[in-house]
Amino acid sequence: MNASLQNDLSAFWIPFTANRSFKADPRLLARAKDMHFETPDGRKVLDGTAGLWCVNAGHARPRIVEAIQKQAAELDFAPTFNLAHPKAFQLASRVADLTPDGLDHIFFTNSGSESVDTALKIALAYQRARGKGHKTRLIGRERGYHGVNFGGVSVGGLPKNRMYFNNLLAQVDHLPHTHDPRNAFSRGQPEHGAELADGLERLVGLHDASTIAAVIVEPVAGSTGVLPPPKGYLERLRALCTRHDILLIFDEVITGFGRVGAPFAAQRFGVTPDMITMAKGITNAAVPMGAVAVSDQIHDAIMGGADAPIELFHGYTYSGHPLACAAGLGTLDTYAEEGLFARSREIETYFEDGVHSLRDARHVIDIRNFGMAAAIELTPRPGEPTARAMEVFKKAFDQGLLIRVTGDIIALSPPLIIEKRQIDQIVETLRALLAATA
Ligand SMILES: Cc1ncc(COP(=O)(O)O)c(C=O)c1O
Repeated sequence: MNASLQNDLSAFWIPFTANRSFKADPRLLARAKDMHFETPDGRKVLDGTAGLWCVNAGHARPRIVEAIQKQAAELDFAPTFNLAHPKAFQLASRVADLTPDGLDHIFFTNSGSESVDTALKIALAYQRARGKGHKTRLIGRERGYHGVNFGGVSVGGLPKNRMYFNNLLAQVDHLPHTHDPRNAFSRGQPEHGAELADGLERLVGLHDASTIAAVIVEPVAGSTGVLPPPKGYLERLRALCTRHDILLIFDEVITGFGRVGAPFAAQRFGVTPDMITMAKGITNAAVPMGAVAVSDQIHDAIMGGADAPIELFHGYTYSGHPLACAAGLGTLDTYAEEGLFARSREIETYFEDGVHSLRDARHVIDIRNFGMAAAIELTPRPGEPTARAMEVFKKAFDQGLLIRVTGDIIALSPPLIIEKRQIDQIVETLRALLAATA
């Protein structure tokens, strides 16, 4: 990297990144196709993370590329305040076809964070519309990640995300997380921990159900290191929410669109929430977009109980953006034509076997997986938490493999088009790197 280019790096304040260290030794991506990124100097990098858990169909897929190109020339933008365009309705209907029965209304956003804050606001609007405006408390979970807007940060359970920005939503509480060392090296859903859902019973005892609007959880926690729900946990949480008249929101920003071998984790686990937040895979990440799927009951209560002509005072300039809708339609066509949700289910066992074969690799203290997502947890280097995993990340990139690290956890979530030999490549690259890393 020459000096003038280094200077050029200063303007872009890179998100969730150690900027000083990155700019001293940048990793740049210039192109991508199918399972690979390519660096500016032409080096191929196998995408072990589907970008950021989002490129589920692989990169630069023809249907999606063509749809965006055509749309840009035909209708670059159309406001969706008091106006609309046909593809927004088409995409909403197609997404509603994929969500569980009864979650038939789709509100478009531009990201996972916006989807989360939208769902929290819809929960409050619903309680008010049906005359229960006293139900305002929102419950999240420790180790939950719900994006970076103020609502999501408040219900989220990551100390660093909260401590720098205060906890600005006041009426928030948290369920205990579900990470239990007794479950180390579980394959799929772990045995222990269904009873942790009873944490909701305690919060009801403390705050009273009449103050609680909604609970939000990731069915499989992703960003904090792939924590699949213990067997029976989600069923129990659903039953408790129903018993206490509390809405249940599944944050499926990562688990949606085939990551867990079904359109949504709700279907894979057979547990239906009242709302589902989504983003990422909805457009295969080609154009930013998010959405909230809302139950008929919530939607109809807000439509029927509104005290103003505009029933929900909420929306974004880019809600239902034409390019995003075109990309979304191209994406859903690609998933359907290639049977990618079923393919994900078919290869998950091969992926699970591969990842768990690292059980005896150096530094490994736990391996967890569900669907096409897996985490390999390393013992931290004494006095230097996160340094070991970061070193593995950098070396992997240099050797042509993109992984993701969070703390001392390596997370894997490849595109659903991955071939078995590419799974082998990920596993063997990691095995060698772990052996060579102090
Ligand atoms: C479960 C979950 N919710 C919300 C978000 C935030 O999405 P975005 O970064 O698109 O705002 C993420 C991002 O990874 C996520 O994993």
